[in-house]
Amino acid sequence: MHLRRAGVAVGLGSAISAAVAAPPAFPASGNGIWYTQPGRDFDFWADDWLPVGNGYLAAMVNGQAAQEVTQLNIESLWSGGPFQDPTYNGGNKAASDQATVAQEMQVIRQAIFQSPNGTIDSASTSGGPLSIGSYVGAGYLLATLDLSGGFSDFVRWLDLDAAVQRTSWTQGNASFFRETFCSHPTQACVQRINTTDASTLPALTYAYSVDAESGIPIPTVSCFDNSTLQITGTASSPGMAFEILARVSASGTNASIVCAPTGTNNATISVSGASDAFITWVGGTDYDADAGDAVHSFSFKGADPHDALVALIEPATASATTYDGALAAHIADYAGLITKFELDLGQTPDFATPTDQLHDAYQTDVGNPYLEWLLFNFGRYLLAGSARGTLPANLQGKWAKDDSNPWSADYHSNINIQMNYWFAELTGMDVVTPLFDYFEKTWAPRGALTAQYLYNISEGWVTHNEIFGHTGMKGGGNTASWADYPESNAWMMLHVWDHFDFTQDSDWFKAQGWPLLKSVAQFHLQKLVPDERFNDSTLVVNPCNSPEQVPITLGCAHAQQLIWQLFNAIDKGFAISGDTDTAFLDEVRAKREQMDKGIHIGSWGQLQEWKVDMDSPTDTHRHLSHLVGLYPGYAVSGYNATVQATAENYTHDEVIAAATTSLIHRGNGTGPDADSGWEKVWRAACWAQLQNATEFYHELTYALERNFAPNLFSLYSQGEGAIFQIDANFGFPAALLNGLIQVPDVATTGDIYTVFILPALPSNWPSGSIKNARLRGGISIEFSWAPAPQGLTSLKVSAESFAARRRVRFVHKGQTIKEITTSPGMSVNLV
Ligand SMILES: *[C@@H]1O[C@H](CO)[C@@H](O)[C@H](O)[C@H]1NC(C)=O
Ligand SMILES: *[C@@H]1O[C@H](CO)[C@@H](O)[C@H](O)[C@H]1NC(C)=O
Ligand SMILES: *[C@@H]1O[C@H](CO)[C@@H](O)[C@H](O)[C@H]1NC(C)=O
Ligand SMILES: *[C@@H]1O[C@H](CO)[C@@H](O)[C@H](O)[C@H]1NC(C)=O
Ligand SMILES: *[C@@H]1O[C@H](CO)[C@@H](O)[C@H](O)[C@H]1NC(C)=O
Ligand SMILES: *[C@@H]1O[C@H](CO)[C@@H](O)[C@H](O)[C@H]1NC(C)=O
Ligand SMILES: *[C@@H]1O[C@H](CO)[C@@H](O)[C@H](O)[C@H]1NC(C)=O
Ligand SMILES: *[C@@H]1O[C@H](CO)[C@@H](O)[C@H](O)[C@H]1NC(C)=O
Ligand SMILES: *[C@@H]1O[C@H](CO)[C@@H](O)[C@H](O)[C@H]1NC(C)=O
Ligand SMILES: *[C@@H]1O[C@H](CO)[C@@H](O)[C@H](O)[C@H]1NC(C)=O
Ligand SMILES: *[C@@H]1O[C@H](CO)[C@@H](O)[C@H](O)[C@H]1NC(C)=O
Ligand SMILES: *[C@@H]1O[C@H](CO)[C@@H](O)[C@H](O)[C@H]1NC(C)=O
Repeated sequence: MHLRRAGVAVGLGSAISAAVAAPPAFPASGNGIWYTQPGRDFDFWADDWLPVGNGYLAAMVNGQAAQEVTQLNIESLWSGGPFQDPTYNGGNKAASDQATVAQEMQVIRQAIFQSPNGTIDSASTSGGPLSIGSYVGAGYLLATLDLSGGFSDFVRWLDLDAAVQRTSWTQGNASFFRETFCSHPTQACVQRINTTDASTLPALTYAYSVDAESGIPIPTVSCFDNSTLQITGTASSPGMAFEILARVSASGTNASIVCAPTGTNNATISVSGASDAFITWVGGTDYDADAGDAVHSFSFKGADPHDALVALIEPATASATTYDGALAAHIADYAGLITKFELDLGQTPDFATPTDQLHDAYQTDVGNPYLEWLLFNFGRYLLAGSARGTLPANLQGKWAKDDSNPWSADYHSNINIQMNYWFAELTGMDVVTPLFDYFEKTWAPRGALTAQYLYNISEGWVTHNEIFGHTGMKGGGNTASWADYPESNAWMMLHVWDHFDFTQDSDWFKAQGWPLLKSVAQFHLQKLVPDERFNDSTLVVNPCNSPEQVPITLGCAHAQQLIWQLFNAIDKGFAISGDTDTAFLDEVRAKREQMDKGIHIGSWGQLQEWKVDMDSPTDTHRHLSHLVGLYPGYAVSGYNATVQATAENYTHDEVIAAATTSLIHRGNGTGPDADSGWEKVWRAACWAQLQNATEFYHELTYALERNFAPNLFSLYSQGEGAIFQIDANFGFPAALLNGLIQVPDVATTGDIYTVFILPALPSNWPSGSIKNARLRGGISIEFSWAPAPQGLTSLKVSAESFAARRRVRFVHKGQTIKEITTSPGMSVNLV
């Protein structure tokens, strides 16, 4: 049934024949995933192991019985960059090259304008060494109980209400219980082991290993004190330094904890006579996000992490800090973030079928609302566990192993990092600050040099991808098919704008949001040029390409739509910004009016991907770049002939029909180029935007059947050693929501905001409810629905005290339910 299962034993639970049931402590809501077998070995890390994380640290728990193997991550631990390569300069050109490159850029531009077909074959121009390295694993914690022989009653699970991983089993004459969590309040992770009847544990040993973390230099393990392991090493050689402190606590009348050196540069902790033991670990590196600017020579080099780690571990393990207290604080912290928003899909929890079996039985179109609901909740769990550190969630969240990860597990900014945050605002998860800090501190400083040296642009900044302020293009020759993407900053700025629009946090907007928006708009103001091919008096980007898709051409729809939306955000945000630079505003308005809007209907009825009509009807490329204005944007879905008109005077319906034609021809996300989850969930979200419930559910369920592992991680590839890529874990909840509620942005503040209720409701979700969906303008709604003929059974709108006054129209099944003007503090039942 699953390609990735070819030649591999199907399912984890295949050895279990007796009737099974979820463990007694499993959430009564059904909100958890559970398995009746330990995870398989390292090759199945991405399929079977279970993630925990607090944003700063992450861990993957294998879930073995006698020996637990916990793979560790520290959010900033990267090889490469200035830590490994002293010549690293963010991929930039040299300052002395600026005039030459500006001249070359003119030649490229003219070649495109004058090319008979509107394209050229190569335009890429790389700068300094790539050397971006990779996000790397931080080794393994081995917790070994002196137990042998078979075990029974095994069950391991991830409690998604509590954000805790748990395992229980019976071995010898005792029943054991282990639990692991990472606390955001303490920035520490904890793993506890005990028996269910408080009897004495067998001898217990804690060790640290990198044996299975291929390519990581062997670190030094020593005893920091008699109960604490100190691990010091580097991500590469030479490279970034990291340290982990892991302290053991134990209770029991005769409990003894001894840390002792073993072997060479190694140490272990032995625990005996304990009835209960737990290990608390903290970790850090000498990376400093605040040192990525010219003042710090773009070094990103910070202090040795040791003192900061001591300052974290002492309070986390102080005698006054009980384990139960720390756990309760963690659960409360997680609940505070996650329970603001609630989704009910009418799912029936299944307490008799382990999650891997639910997963294996899952079929496209047939679906299973319970598993869909779990995957939605799991996406929010992963965002809470990876976004809340000092760095944003990367291509694998914060979960990665070995010295080299697929696509470096980088900040892949041409769809993936955007997708990571698609559902954050609507579900009230204020986890975006590290993302915006990253733009400000990592991209903007060196990206300003890229703007100058590569584009001869004196204001603002640009980036093409990744960490360590790697803002230059990534390669020489024709790398348009994967590397060139100077519009990533424009796309990211729509997240900045949305954060303000949803929260109405004007203090934040003035301090961070607006400066980011303005600097990126300044860059694009200078980059747009008059169209000398069509001579239609418009401004276009040239050169350009769609993300990861040739040709190199002019007026790419994706770029034009995004820049137009960015300019709208400037227009809407100016009044709140406190900025008095009206010359800037005037220039934005004038160029917005004049620019090509990226909306053209081509020879076969398609929405053109490029201004030159050359789309192939058989192009099933993974990216839906020209449909960015359908979802997540609004340039297409909210097309308004008055402000986006071209000479052809398209109507809204014509534009939507063209987008539909393009979406159909783009296929179902299983083209010859890729078969990943993120492309399918993007297609699902687009079908929801087109209010087509059948196609929406088809793509959503197809993604779930084909691109998710038994542990519900999203898989880029299938089979042993499968490639994990977190974007579909985050895109799935966003796409699912888009079938239930849509709140597209509008071009100008005076426009009516339309809220679509249940725009693409699949028949598999006949009843359900949403509570506390946060909408634009400081309002929130809750609604519920039931099987026909009842339909929408309630709809309540509430406005915060800081809500904006806006005209909002609520639409259900193509009919306006009500149009209201919101006001601070209002609360009204519309159904
Ligand atoms: C580079 O920018 C400078 C300053 O705006 C301008 O004078 C010069 O003409 C530009 N060079 C090219 C080749 O466009
Ligand atoms: C387009 O024209 C350019 C310049 O003549 C040529 O180099 C290129 O191969 C052409 N591309 C295609 C796809 O025909
Ligand atoms: C279990 O208990 C029995 C009876 O008390 C004892 O004989 C046996 O050795 C124990 N087994 C283990 C593995 O401890
Ligand atoms: C073992 O640890 C769990 C999890 O913290 C706790 O709920 C349970 O009470 C402990 N068992 C005993 C016997 O102390
Ligand atoms: C330390 O020793 C343990 C066994 O005692 C071993 O498993 C581990 O790999 C060693 N760690 C290092 C970093 O050498
Ligand atoms: C650990 O060492 C401290 C002093 O360094 C001592 O007071 C304490 O008793 C020791 N703990 C154990 C469990 O040996
Ligand atoms: C602790 O050790 C003492 C002395 O050996 C022994 O009498 C007692 O039973 C032990 N207690 C436990 C709980 O094992
Ligand atoms: C557009 O104008 C430029 C000069 O301004 C000219 O060279 C070019 O031939 C024109 N293109 C078309 C298609 O008319
Ligand atoms: C289209 O834009 C115009 C000008 O901003 C505005 O007055 C009108 O309300 C918009 N139409 C819709 C349907 O939003
Ligand atoms: C588009 O609309 C404008 C203004 O209404 C009109 O002058 C023009 O002829 C129309 N163009 C086409 C191709 O219908
Ligand atoms: C996906 O598209 C491919 C190619 O058109 C087709 O063979 C396959 O049946 C489709 N699968 C689903 C589930 O839509
Ligand atoms: C959904 O899209 C499919 C494929 O284009 C089409 O056959 C179907 O009629 C559409 N359904 C609705 C309700 O628009």
